[in-house]
Amino acid sequence: MEGSLGLLLVLIETLAIIHLVQAQDQRGFISLDCGLPANETSPYKETTTGLWFSSDESLIQSGKTGRIQANRESGFKKPYTTLRYFPDGNRNCYNLSVEKGKKHLIRAYFIYENYDGQNINPVFDLYIGPNIWATIDLEKLVNGTQSEMLHVPTSNSLQICLVKTGRTTPLISTLELRPMGNDTYNTKSGSLSYFIRSYHSKSGSTLRYMTDVYDRLWLPFFMKEWTQISTGLKVRNSNGYDPPEVALATAAVPTNASAPLTIEWTNLRPDDQYYYYAHISEIQDLQENETREFNVMWNGEVSYASLTPQRLGLHTISNNSPITCKGGKCSFQLIRTNNSTLPPLLNAFEVYTVIHFPQSETEETNVVAMRNIETTYGLSRINWQGDPCVPQQLRWDGLNCINTFLSVPPKITALNLSSSGLTGNIAAAIQDLTLLEKLDLSNNNLTGEVPEFLGNMKSLLFINLSGNDINGSIPQSLQRKGLELLVEGNPKLCLSDSCRKPPKKKVLIPIFASVASATIVIAVMVILLLLKSKKSTYLQGLVQLLPWTPTVDDTFANKKSRRFTYSEVLKMTNNFQNVLGRGGFGMVYHGTTLNGSQEVAVKLLSQSSTQGYKEFKAEVDLLLRVHHTNLVSLVGYCYEGDHLGLIYEYLPNGDLKQHLSGKDGCIINWSIRLRIALEAALGLEYLHIGCTPPMVHRDVKTANILLDENLKAKLADFGLSRSFQVGGESQDATAVVGTFGYLDPEYYHERRLCEKSDVYSFGIVLLEMITNQPVINQTLHITQWVGFKMNQGDITEIMDPNLGKDYDSNSAWRALELAMSCANPSSSKRPSMSKVVNELHECIEGISSKNPSLEMTTILDTSSVLPLAR
Ligand SMILES: *[C@@H]1O[C@H](CO)[C@@H](O)[C@H](O)[C@H]1NC(C)=O
Ligand SMILES: *[C@@H]1O[C@H](CO)[C@@H](O)[C@H](O)[C@H]1NC(C)=O
Ligand SMILES: *[C@@H]1O[C@H](CO)[C@@H](O)[C@H](O)[C@H]1NC(C)=O
Ligand SMILES: *[C@@H]1O[C@H](CO)[C@@H](O)[C@H](O)[C@H]1NC(C)=O
Ligand SMILES: *[C@@H]1O[C@H](CO)[C@@H](O)[C@H](O)[C@H]1NC(C)=O
Ligand SMILES: *[C@@H]1O[C@H](CO)[C@@H](O)[C@H](O)[C@H]1NC(C)=O
Ligand SMILES: *[C@@H]1O[C@H](CO)[C@@H](O)[C@H](O)[C@H]1NC(C)=O
Ligand SMILES: *[C@@H]1O[C@H](CO)[C@@H](O)[C@H](O)[C@H]1NC(C)=O
Ligand SMILES: *[C@@H]1O[C@H](CO)[C@@H](O)[C@H](O)[C@H]1NC(C)=O
Ligand SMILES: *[C@@H]1O[C@H](CO)[C@@H](O)[C@H](O)[C@H]1NC(C)=O
Ligand SMILES: *[C@@H]1O[C@H](CO)[C@@H](O)[C@H](O)[C@H]1NC(C)=O
Repeated sequence: MEGSLGLLLVLIETLAIIHLVQAQDQRGFISLDCGLPANETSPYKETTTGLWFSSDESLIQSGKTGRIQANRESGFKKPYTTLRYFPDGNRNCYNLSVEKGKKHLIRAYFIYENYDGQNINPVFDLYIGPNIWATIDLEKLVNGTQSEMLHVPTSNSLQICLVKTGRTTPLISTLELRPMGNDTYNTKSGSLSYFIRSYHSKSGSTLRYMTDVYDRLWLPFFMKEWTQISTGLKVRNSNGYDPPEVALATAAVPTNASAPLTIEWTNLRPDDQYYYYAHISEIQDLQENETREFNVMWNGEVSYASLTPQRLGLHTISNNSPITCKGGKCSFQLIRTNNSTLPPLLNAFEVYTVIHFPQSETEETNVVAMRNIETTYGLSRINWQGDPCVPQQLRWDGLNCINTFLSVPPKITALNLSSSGLTGNIAAAIQDLTLLEKLDLSNNNLTGEVPEFLGNMKSLLFINLSGNDINGSIPQSLQRKGLELLVEGNPKLCLSDSCRKPPKKKVLIPIFASVASATIVIAVMVILLLLKSKKSTYLQGLVQLLPWTPTVDDTFANKKSRRFTYSEVLKMTNNFQNVLGRGGFGMVYHGTTLNGSQEVAVKLLSQSSTQGYKEFKAEVDLLLRVHHTNLVSLVGYCYEGDHLGLIYEYLPNGDLKQHLSGKDGCIINWSIRLRIALEAALGLEYLHIGCTPPMVHRDVKTANILLDENLKAKLADFGLSRSFQVGGESQDATAVVGTFGYLDPEYYHERRLCEKSDVYSFGIVLLEMITNQPVINQTLHITQWVGFKMNQGDITEIMDPNLGKDYDSNSAWRALELAMSCANPSSSKRPSMSKVVNELHECIEGISSKNPSLEMTTILDTSSVLPLAR
């Protein structure tokens, strides 16, 4: 590695005259010499490349500067001899100013070289915003390493963070950003991590700036099966990719003219997706009777057919969509066609792997608000670096956040600045935290009045201002129901009625609200129900004045389910126009109740349904009896001649199966998954022990777990449930019901039905939620797959790759073990649903109270598998 770092091409020292031109060429370049001492000139021109490097001082608040061991300095160019290291804080971040939407090459070097005299090579993680980019393992790569990728920033600032993962201290030597052309290199499916960039010459050295306008590094690479051809003429290199002319002036051809030209490497991570870019130019003078034509092959398949390279022109051949390698080996080949008299040729070659950054950054207004609060109070907390909310294990002290989908920006729900030595007024920026529920500013030296804006923040549930020096009185707007306000220990604050401020706006709302009038509400409801279909503008006006609007629960919770006529069902569903799916009985349609107040899902019993009328009736009877927040509730039914239908509450977020598939681009994060599992478990526990007589669901599966608008889970389709007797023998079912893969093997073989069959199915559901693997893959059942992987002990191999690394591995192990115990082949060894509920509770609590324990596995460092690294 020392070789390849020392290899930064020795260019002829450029003349001072062209410095100006050069500076222009480097427009947008950021070249940071990390840890450059303050008494040294910055920026300075690096002599071999002409790149202007500057100190990183102004772009990072933390860290200390160091210099590699003196006797090793000679092996490195100047920017690589100094470094910045981070003994304090778990995450330290650079904040770089970039152009949003523009493709950038981002590269960082990490060279230890015993700067601290300890001779302990560190291991740590590199993040981009809230997402992990790479693990830097200098224990393995003792001579130093680099990380490089092509990335399109989603905002005008880019956070590059070094994250401690063990005892060792992260460090960084240089950080380099190069803006690229937009229309080259395909980043549609994700950013591109550097894997190979080579040109084919027997005697070259590494090329970079100024030979390469984008400062990519090109390594010379030549195999013994190849013969070199070269040209002294100029190759036209400007096709957007613009590989260096020098790189194109030589090419490799197979020495055996009828053999293919082959580049192969071992693929260590089977899911890696690759893009290749082959740069090809005809640099040989062809005779009239000579032709060169070949196919470009990837893993044995034609990727580009019958290419005839243009004389001194440039073709950049690439795959349009990402491709994986099968069988642990990737192979790139050029094979001459039958018509060709000459072997294929290759001038330069690049390979990238796709790297996904699924976690969104915290919502921008929230971030700006936090920065304002930080500045207002002059806070400087080592932990307040990088993204405030994510990843969860690096969340800023004093914050809590909501982070439901990886693809939706998280928002702050709690701010705790208790005992932080705050002075001055309550910061106005707090009002920009629009989802804030808890605010703790207690035990500071805050002065001034309680601001009115706090009262307008409808999300707030709890404010602790105790132990400050606040004066004035409490605004009326803060005296609302559902908001807990603590103000003791503020001697200057007036609490008596006499100094209560009058409300600012005189509207009806406070009157209704202050009467806190269940009676009025009920009265209005009754009137509404009586006048259901008759339009009453008077009432509509009244309803708008109420501080709430009637919700589904208000209209239906305590009302008997309704029987509808078939023609009403037709109207509701607009003649069954909108199909939601196919359920256990028949088709399911979307609809709206006739007064338009509620969306519903109408399930029609098809005439040919195998289950038929008896089950339909059973489901109606059951559903009428069963009410639980985690069970889909029945709104009504239709029973008219041949027309049988069930009308359920409509859950807008579809089913869990759909969500796990990630088709909608929304990936449910780990803590929400645990919550969903818990809610489904609660629904099931209720069926087993909460209702009389108890019942077995019999068809627990991810497709039967529906999600409401807040992603609350509700179990559906327990019409298949049959009451069973407690205490006595488990019932014999006449026919096996359920879904293959989820079916309790004991029930299947012995036809013995008990609640433990549901526990088994729940175990499978939990495994699916953890791994996102198919329940049955060819012949392998998910329990076998997980069992096999668990033996290998690497949780990262088991977890749903969509989660990235953003989960707590303790809770993941725990959930996994719980799932496997549920899926025990022997029903007597499975836990009860109540036990499952307890365990899931503890998993969730484990996360929220946890310390950062980062179990990180090594991400393959690509430089170690380069075919060139020899
Ligand atoms: C910078 O200061 C260090 C000591 O703090 C000294 O060893 C070094 O020579 C100085 N460099 C320059 C360029 O003055
Ligand atoms: C990063 O820098 C930009 C300006 O370059 C600034 O607007 C932004 O607030 C900074 N972000 C952080 C987290 O310091
Ligand atoms: C191309 O880059 C410019 C900035 O140079 C950016 O504004 C624009 O959105 C990019 N276009 C595309 C299609 O990415
Ligand atoms: C590190 O460099 C030394 C000296 O150049 C070399 O012998 C050794 O193989 C290198 N180690 C690695 C892991 O590249
Ligand atoms: C040249 O390559 C062809 C096709 O791969 C092969 O059949 C032949 O044996 C090779 N010749 C030599 C001398 O290696
Ligand atoms: C092409 O023609 C030259 C003479 O002009 C001859 O020596 C050579 O063998 C021919 N090559 C092929 C492939 O026919
Ligand atoms: C060349 O021709 C042979 C026989 O005609 C055929 O089997 C083979 O597929 C052809 N190869 C290519 C690359 O077209
Ligand atoms: C080979 O060349 C002939 C004539 O030049 C052409 O007709 C034929 O299509 C070519 N075959 C292939 C496979 O390119
Ligand atoms: C805020 O943090 C302090 C400790 O720093 C803790 O005692 C207090 O309970 C927290 N407040 C809330 C509302 O959680
Ligand atoms: C509010 O803050 C005070 C002072 O720090 C503390 O004693 C009290 O327990 C807090 N109340 C709650 C409910 O957190
Ligand atoms: C408030 O300020 C005074 C003096 O400035 C100081 O003695 C006291 O400790 C501070 N109180 C808190 C809670 O920070």
